Amino acid sequence: MIKNIASEYPIELGSLLNSSFHNLLKNKYKNSKIVIIVDENSHDFCLEFLITSFDELKEAEVMLLPTGEENKVMEVCFQVWEALSDYQIGRKDLIINLGGGIVTDMGGFIASIFKRGIDFINIPTTLLGMIDASIGGKTGIDLGPYKNQLGTFTNPKALFIDSSFLGTLPKHELMNGYAEMLKHALICDANHWNELIAIEALEDLITGAFIEKSIRIKNQIVSEDPKEANVRKKLNFGHTIGHGIEGYLLDKEPISHGHAVGLGMLAEAFISYQRRILSEEQWLEIERILTAVFPKIEIESTEIENIISLMQNDKKNFSGEIKGCVLTSIGNCEFDQNFGNKEIEEALNYLINI
Ligand SMILES: NC(=O)c1ccc[n+]([C@@H]2O[C@H](COP(=O)([O-])OP(=O)(O)OC[C@H]3O[C@@H](n4cnc5c(N)ncnc54)[C@H](O)[C@@H]3O)[C@@H](O)[C@H]2O)c1
Repeated sequence: MIKNIASEYPIELGSLLNSSFHNLLKNKYKNSKIVIIVDENSHDFCLEFLITSFDELKEAEVMLLPTGEENKVMEVCFQVWEALSDYQIGRKDLIINLGGGIVTDMGGFIASIFKRGIDFINIPTTLLGMIDASIGGKTGIDLGPYKNQLGTFTNPKALFIDSSFLGTLPKHELMNGYAEMLKHALICDANHWNELIAIEALEDLITGAFIEKSIRIKNQIVSEDPKEANVRKKLNFGHTIGHGIEGYLLDKEPISHGHAVGLGMLAEAFISYQRRILSEEQWLEIERILTAVFPKIEIESTEIENIISLMQNDKKNFSGEIKGCVLTSIGNCEFDQNFGNKEIEEALNYLINI
């Protein structure tokens, strides 16, 4: 059964074969050229199913992006834009982004810029992509060590979430999705937090109920505040410090986005506890769960200053102040908080010495 989640564009949850995807191909995009953007793994694990299931895709051009955050860069976009021009892709044509958060972020960016915007459809194939990256219209790429520094707010024409793609996803990638699911719970749903921390194995996350709940949380927040003027900022919980760590390690020993967010949430919950706005009992529960899931990273305390200066250039900030979110309890979060350098330094020292 397909579940439709109300939003500005169709979000369908369930088997792709039973969704309205086929109708779109047969009708709206009947005369369009179709380009499918994949990365190396979605190419190997997901593309064949798509092409063999839908006759309309037999002639589609496939464009392969190199896997990994270090390739979420302008140079790769240029190559794709040139290829789109070579194939004479025009405003009536369609891009299908089939892959994880990097493919949907980059593919969406590529589509939203090309010829001032052509239609794209997202078919996420990672847990993180399904419950977070493909929803909410943020497209983008990195600039040097700065995450998602170039981008647009552009919604896909449709989003199809079929959890059967997750069968081939490595366990550590489930952990990355778990990070963002825990974030959704921590910022606005204590019951969901209790459900999520009670799972016995990461594979339990693949059951529709958890995915659906997480999508609904994200979708509700972004529908209320599409351009991140206020409540959408809550979704940045864990990302102020997380992005700093992720960007800093990008050209050293890169860690995944989910791992960085997991550690960022730990650090930002630590700040909340230090400010005495999060109770000790809840802090200890968050600490117990997050330290069990997200491995510690090896950073020297002499490197902290460099991480903080990266954070200063994050697009969430202005006037040199570092902004972030704090938790007042599990399920409640306050945004637009100024983080002092000393507070961040203490939180990073805490992470290093766990
Ligand atoms: N736009 C947003 O609102 C938003 C929100 C959160 C994260 N993001 C971005 O998303 C990215 C992280 O997304 P991600 O964790 O999906 O990373 P990813 O796209 O790199 O995918 C993770 C890994 O899984 C592989 N993979 C994909 N599908 C697979 C499948 N079905 N089977 C086996 N392997 C598969 C990929 O090749 C990759 O190696 C980051 O760049 C982050 O900034 C964006």
